[in-house]
Parts: sequence; C-alpha cells; structure tokens
Amino acid sequence: MAKRVLVSGGAGYIGSHVSVELIQAGYDVVVADNMSNCDMTCFEGVKKITGRNDIPFEKIDCCDYESVDKLFTDFRIDAVIHFAAFKAVGESVAEPVKYYKNNLMSFLNILDAAKSHGGCNVLFSSSATVYGETDKLPVTEQSERQPATSPYGNTKQICEDILRDTVKATAVYGDEVMPGLDRQGPVKGIALRYFNPIGAHPSALIGELPRGVPNNLVPYITQTAAGKRECLSIFGNDYPTPDGTCLRDYIDIVDLAKAHVAAVSRMLDGKMEEDYEIYNIGTGRPVSVLELVTTFEKVNGLKLNYKFAPRRAGDVTAIWADPSLAEKKLGWKAGRTIDQTLESAWKWECHLKETSR
Ligand code: UD1
Repeated sequence: MAKRVLVSGGAGYIGSHVSVELIQAGYDVVVADNMSNCDMTCFEGVKKITGRNDIPFEKIDCCDYESVDKLFTDFRIDAVIHFAAFKAVGESVAEPVKYYKNNLMSFLNILDAAKSHGGCNVLFSSSATVYGETDKLPVTEQSERQPATSPYGNTKQICEDILRDTVKATAVYGDEVMPGLDRQGPVKGIALRYFNPIGAHPSALIGELPRGVPNNLVPYITQTAAGKRECLSIFGNDYPTPDGTCLRDYIDIVDLAKAHVAAVSRMLDGKMEEDYEIYNIGTGRPVSVLELVTTFEKVNGLKLNYKFAPRRAGDVTAIWADPSLAEKKLGWKAGRTIDQTLESAWKWECHLKETSR
C-alpha cells in the first residue's frame, strides 16, 4: 500500500508543486487547506498534471484542533508536510498577533494530533530567513541563527524549536521512560530551510497566485511584463555587491518540491540518522536582483520597465546556501537552470492572462 502524506496548505504555491511530485513519486496525498490565501486553481492543476481525480481535499483550518484530529482519525497518515502558514513579511510586522496565532497554533495542532495518533513523521517548511543578516556566506545548517527580523521570521524560528523539542520529548515518552505521562507516539522531524523559491510547473497549470500587489520579486517582474504593473522598483543599487543590488539564492519550485520527496522518503524509509534534521534547500549560486531581471528579459525576449528605488527596510544584502548537506544526505540537488525557471514563471503569467486572471 502506498504511504500517505498529509500536505497542510497543499492548495498553495509550494504545497501544490509538492503534491504533484509526491504523487508522481508514488505517494498518496491528502490536501488540507483553509483557502485563506488561494483558490482552487492550483488544486485543479495538481489533478490535471497527475491525472488523478481522486485526491482527497479537506477544507479545514489547522488552527482548529478538532478538524486536525479528525483528519488523523479519518486517514492513516504516514507523514505530514506542514505549509499552512501566513508568509507576508511586511504584514507580519503590522499584525504580529495574527501571525503568531495562526502560524504557531496550526503547527501545534498538527504536532499534537501527530503524537496523539501514535506518532508521525513531520516535515516543517522553514526559511532561510532564520539565518538573518550574516557575512559568513554561504550559510550552512551549522551557521548560527540570528534574531529574527520580523514576526514572520520569528514564527519560523519558534516552529523549528517546537519541532525539535517535540521530537526529543516524544522519543523519551515513546520509550515510556517517564511513567505516569500520557503515552505518546514518536514524532520525527525534518525542517527544510528554503532560500528563494521561484518559477512555476513547466506545464503552466500551477504557479504562484499572489493576492494584490506582490511582495516578492519574481511575481512583480512577471506582472510588470504582462502590463499588470507599470514598473518594477529594484530596491537599492548601492549595496556592497558586484552590481550594487542584493544577492539571493533563487531555487526553482519544482526542484524545491523534489527536495520534499527526498526528505519524506528519508523519513519513511527509516534512513534518518538523527530524529530531527535540518537541510538548506538552495542552489548554492548567488544571483543579483539586476541579473535576475536581465536574465528574465533575455530568456523571454522581453524588455522590462524597471527603475532603481531606495532600499527596502529589512532586506539583507546577500544570502545564499551551502546545499551540500542536502546533496549528501537526501541525494538531492537543484537541477533546473535559472533560464528554465524564469521561462516557466513567464509561461505561468501568460497562462493566467489567457484565463483572464
Ligand atoms: C522574503 C522573505 C523570506 C521568504 C521569501 C519568500 C525575509 C527577510 N524575507 O525573501 O523569508 O521566504 O520572501 O519568497 O523574511 N525586490 C525588488 N523589488 C521588488 C521585490 C523585491 O528589488 O519589487 C528585491 C528585494 O529587495 C530582494 C530580492 O528582490 O533583494 C528578493 O526579494 P523577495 O522576493 O521579496 O524575497 P526576500 O526578501 O529575499
């Protein structure tokens, strides 16, 4: 029988790409989403790409424990990949309570249900934001986390810690070393720290669907190219980098999704060396904002309207991954070129235009 993976937040940008790769790798998937930041477009796309009309979809809010508990009762869940969270950095600064409440509560409920239902493998969707500003580049998993620069970033750090502590505690209780405590199933965990996920599925059936004005660079670029936005502002050209613009590690969304399959397989095949493991998911290649813009123009044969603007508050100058641990332990490596990724991003934007989105 195929192992089953619960994908919380599975109708969103990353969750939908991960669902496709899981299904194509032979896993069964249950998608849970409260649809707070997406519509059914990507879930429908997942069904089309995989040719599977029978993927269970549960419209639930993971902040509601009863609903999460019911999922674990209704389905045998072998692993959970937890995406269900808010992710807008600026909004988190303005509404910290909303962010802490949602991002922490949903993850706590997942963990609570996981250990109450006999234990589970839990993969947490973390971010390179946990490293903060550092000049020791590239960052490895051993690089020290810096104080979070936003409540959003803080929720990623706190959730990593909650997972680490839960794994540690349930390993002990699982062995019944502490009599008198409720028996709890063991939780094993992996945190994947993503760098900057961009692009779309080559089929152009799923991709990023930002609501309102995009915060992130690539949707802003594609929307500008499509005429939805007048002009891209490049935030800062006086950084101490070769061309003065910030450096990031842009990771193709399909490559990123494949990293999840590798991590889930490691857990389900009993290959973990520690009960809690952390991996950087990036390419190891820094790319500047300006380079990304000119590459987008080149591969898609377009001219983009852009201007230089002041720095954006909270941006770090440069960050990129040392992804060698993921290669060594997960057997995963980014494979797609930045050209392919930026082509896929544009193809997705064109698909949205054709469907009047
Ligand atoms: C941010 C978050 C990161 C999150 C990621 C999701 C922080 C500090 N950053 O990363 O945690 O995982 O989004 O994708 O928490 N830029 C422009 N013009 C624009 C938009 C962006 O020049 O209109 C520049 C930014 O200044 C930055 C680069 O493009 O240098 C990338 O920005 P963005 O896509 O927003 O990602 P990050 O800020 O790196």
